[in-house]
Amino acid sequence: MSEIPFKNPGWAGNTGEFDLTEEQVRGDDLVGKRPVDGGHPSGAASYPYMVADRNPDATLFEGPYRERFEKILSRYPDKQAALLPTLGLAQEIRGHVSPESMDRVAELLELSPAYVRGVATFYTMYNKQAVGRHLIQVCTNVSCNLCGADEVLEAFLRYNDVEPGETTEDGNFTVIEAECLAACGFPTCVQINSRYYENVTPTDVPGIIEALRSGKAGER
Ligand code: FES
Repeated sequence: MSEIPFKNPGWAGNTGEFDLTEEQVRGDDLVGKRPVDGGHPSGAASYPYMVADRNPDATLFEGPYRERFEKILSRYPDKQAALLPTLGLAQEIRGHVSPESMDRVAELLELSPAYVRGVATFYTMYNKQAVGRHLIQVCTNVSCNLCGADEVLEAFLRYNDVEPGETTEDGNFTVIEAECLAACGFPTCVQINSRYYENVTPTDVPGIIEALRSGKAGER
């Protein structure tokens, strides 16, 4: 795995008195590319945020992804119950869930397009428009806010010269504000694709962006 050239590598193990590698903390299975066959169900929720092979023009639910869709269906009592993971799979393939993707999901699950749109637009975790290769979500909720999250958000926006929700011209970065990411003990928490960066301060921002740009922070 690449070496991360800044203080907080994105997991809690290297804070405090610990000195652990990411593999030791998370285990080898959860580090690296997402498995096309879906792997263990417990990992599936993070795949829609991984970047490998993401393609906004890809055909939905074909080939191995058709098998994934069938696998998802087999875990639920009826098609309607499979809606959330199916939307997740659409986002995993294309990086976002467009109105066209929602219609395709509705067709496959024999639901009305309005029902699928109602569900997809309720959840902020589904990207409704295309995002950059790295989706940067800065938590500005209470704990992070008290520890300077607004300045961290501002630093990401200014360093990339974008407004919230905008993507940089090179298509690399989209910066958005997020509600609590459930890492309140490590403020400010920033989720970039499927990975958490914790205890982030404004001065960490250039190092994180450049590590991502150069590939040193890995692709997840
Ligand atoms: S308030 Fe930021 S992770 Fe909970």
